[in-house]
Formats: sequence, structure tokens, C-alpha cells
Amino acid sequence: MSKLSTAMPFAAAALDARSSVALYRQLYDGIRRAILAGQLKAGTRLPSTRELACELGVSRNTVMNAFEQLLAEGYVEGHTGSGTFVSRTLPDDLLNARAGERRAAHPRPRRRALSTRGASLAATHINLSRFEGRARPFRPGTPALDAFPFELWSRLTARHWRRPRRDLLNYGDPAGHAPLRAAIAAYLGAARAVVCEPEQVIVVAGAQQALDLAARVLLDPGDAAWVEEPGYLGAKGALAAAGARLVPVPLDENGMDVEAGADVEPSARLVYVSPSHQYPTGVTMSLARRLALIEWASRAGAWILEDDYDSEYRYEGRPLAALQGLDAEGRVIYLGTFSKVLFPALRIGYMVVPADLVAAFCAARALSDRHSPTVEQAVLTDFLEEGHFARHVRRMRALYSSRQAVLVEEARRELKDLLEIETSAAGLHLMGWLPEDMDDRVAARAAEAHGVDAQPLSSFCLGRPRRGGLVLGYAAYDAQEIREGVKRLAAALRVRPRK
Ligand SMILES: Cc1ncc(COP(=O)(O)O)c(C=O)c1O
Repeated sequence: MSKLSTAMPFAAAALDARSSVALYRQLYDGIRRAILAGQLKAGTRLPSTRELACELGVSRNTVMNAFEQLLAEGYVEGHTGSGTFVSRTLPDDLLNARAGERRAAHPRPRRRALSTRGASLAATHINLSRFEGRARPFRPGTPALDAFPFELWSRLTARHWRRPRRDLLNYGDPAGHAPLRAAIAAYLGAARAVVCEPEQVIVVAGAQQALDLAARVLLDPGDAAWVEEPGYLGAKGALAAAGARLVPVPLDENGMDVEAGADVEPSARLVYVSPSHQYPTGVTMSLARRLALIEWASRAGAWILEDDYDSEYRYEGRPLAALQGLDAEGRVIYLGTFSKVLFPALRIGYMVVPADLVAAFCAARALSDRHSPTVEQAVLTDFLEEGHFARHVRRMRALYSSRQAVLVEEARRELKDLLEIETSAAGLHLMGWLPEDMDDRVAARAAEAHGVDAQPLSSFCLGRPRRGGLVLGYAAYDAQEIREGVKRLAAALRVRPRK
């Protein structure tokens, strides 16, 4: 064995001339690994560049480049005239890093110190990730991706990237791209009777970010927050993560029961509602209840978080006005999203906040992720301003209404006595009510085993629902998929799964 390879175990590691990794980089990696693993001890003298180049059959430049990199990163130290040595000042931690890396590949469970906030985040147990990836019937919350005008979208996108505007490529306003804020304000004023100036519109990374910001900006840990029972998991998760104490408030056919909420927790700091189309029951909050809620909020000094997530999809009559337009005191924080009209991965939503809160929300937003991608915002502005948005919504209204009709018709035929299902004037999903003796979680598991998603109503509840139900999204699936899904669901429920 040559003197060199004894002193330089890494030299034995063959350098691969066909690899896409440069030779100098391979050599650097080999020496670095040998140092970290303790094979090359501190103070060991490395061979001269000439000797090593000869030993490895590579050019001297290759060795010099590797040594320079090691020198720059402090793994070796050089003394002019006296050679290159493994650094004597490598901290023990670094020397053990290799062993650490090996351990990390098979981590042993051990307690790590999360912050109190981190621990409460981890303990929310609200798993939004089950909505990732390709959807199958009847996963809710997904629009018809097969009917989105992607060609048009890509043309609008290309137009911006062909000659990108310098001002759009730099950091932007945390409140969003000004023309988009103006377009959203105009749209909300006309379509939803939202009363606002463009300056009150903050473009966010989806409604979920708006929920998170509102919870963090408006609540202290321990503050009580009313939530609809049953209600949207993403809202409960964001509020709980901010340390809020969730107070479930029951619903009836007029929406949230404000009196019941005031009886249980009169001094809540915030209330989360989806008044246009309650998620997931689909109930519309009556005008009397809206006024009662605003009146209570005024007395209690509470905020109202209005989630208008799918307001574009109303199939009968005129769209309902937003609660925000009834609020004279600036207590409503209004949220909306483009996830349901365009596509969820776009991650663009908006909030309309009272003018005196804009600065606080923008400060919080800037510290979290600065702002939403500006070029996408500019593309979306064109989509709105050039009339594509309105056209797409009109087309989708007709499509979703027909998809809903297929679901109802098929369910009434195949799921008689197993699932009570009613048409709805709005939204992208329907509620199906199970027979009294059927547990909805067990039914959902049976459905899953038959290849369909049917979210149990009880997963939206903090307590137990009065009656079990399944939430069935239909917008994203064509007539054939819906029919096939209903058949599968019928097969799952026909065995009457019980607890
Ligand atoms: C009731 C409700 N609010 C908000 C959202 C969040 O949407 P975004 O994708 O904008 O975060 C959803 C998504 O499914 C929803 O169902």
C-alpha cells in the first residue's frame, strides 16, 4: 500500500471521469467527507498538489481547485512553503456531523423543544393536506379544472413574460398589485355589494392566509372566537393556531344562532361566519340574523370574519349581498378567493379590511411572505379587466348547475333510503343526510374503500352533529364520473355500515 493512500484514504475513492460532477468537486467532497468522518485527523498533512495529481491521474489544476475550496471553507489550512494541513480548529460538532447525518436518516423519537406557539400549531390536528393532488368524486372544494381556459391563461401569462416590466420584477406592495386591488374592489362592489375603496383590499395567498392573518392580528391567546358548528376546518385551524378558544355556535335554517352564541360566550372577540353559503351545510344566513350578528358584534366590540369563498356560484335568483355591506362600524373583515373560480394552486385570494386596520395587516403580511407573486397578479388583473373572469363564471354556473342536477338525479335513484339529498341554489357541493342509525365516519370509510371520497359531517364539528351526513363535491367531475361515483357510494352504503 502506498504511503499516499494510507495517509489519504479518500484518494482510494475512485474519481469518476464520466460523472456530471466536476472532478475537482468529487475530490473536494471525498476529502471533506474523510475529514468529517474523522478519517483525516486535525493537523494531518495533505500530500502536495503535484503528488496527489500524480497519484489520482488528474491534472494539478483539479487538485488545486479542490484544495482552494477546502481552504476557503476552513476544512484545511495552508502554510506557505510548509504544505496543507487538516484544520486544527474544526469544532467537535462539525467533526461529528457525519455521524449525525447517519443518525438523521433513521431518527430516534425524542422530545425536541418546540415553542409554546409551535406546540399549539402542531396540536391543531387539522390536516388540510388531504386535499392535495388529483381529486376524485366527491372531494369538495375543487372547481372544474377540465373546463378552465388554460390556453387563454397561458397567452396572458406569456404576454407578461415576453417583455417583463421591471417594476413587476422587484419587491412589491404587501397589499398587492394596485391594478388588481382596484379591479377586485370594483368587482366586489358590483357583484357582492361590498362597500370599500381599493386601498382596503389586500391581495393574499388564498383565503387561508387571510384567516391566519386575521387570527394573528386581531386575537390574543385565550381570546374566545365563535365558529359555526359544523364549520370550515381551515378557519378553526387558523384561529386555534393563534391561541383562540373556539366556541362552537349552532346553526339552524337561518344560519348561525346568534342568541345561542351570546348565551354561551357573550364576550367573544371574533366570530367566523360563511353567511352566503355556509360551509358545509349550505344554509344562507337570513337578513334578520345578519343584522342580529352585527348588532351583537357592536355591543361586544367583536370582529366578524366573513368568508365568502364560493359566492360566484349562485344558480337561482340574484347573488346575495355580502354582510360586509351592512356593517356601518367597520367590524367586518371580508375574505374571498380565486381558488374556486380559477384554480386552487393559483394561491390568490383577497381580504377587505376596515381602513384603520390596513397598515397592521400589511405589516403582518410583509413579515410573513412579503407579498403574492406580482406577475401572476398582473395576469389575473388582465383576466378580470378583459372580461374573461365574468365569461368563465357564467360558463361555470351553467356547467355546475348541470353537474349538480346529475348528482341529485342519480343519488335519488341509486341512494334511495340511504342518503337524503336536496338541490342547492349555490356552491360546489351538496349535503347528503344519512339515516339516523348510520355513523357518518364509518360511512365515509366504507365509501373510501369503494373508491369515493365523502367527507363526514362530524369531521366539521367540535361536538357531535345532530344527524350524520356526507359532504359531496360535484363541480370538478363530469357526468360519467358522478354517475360512477354514486354507484360506488351506493355499494358502500347498501351494507349499512354502522359503528
Ligand atoms: C369555506 C372555505 N373557506 C376558505 C377556503 C380556502 O380557500 P383558499 O384556497 O383560498 O385558501 C375554502 C377552501 O376549500 C373553503 O371551503
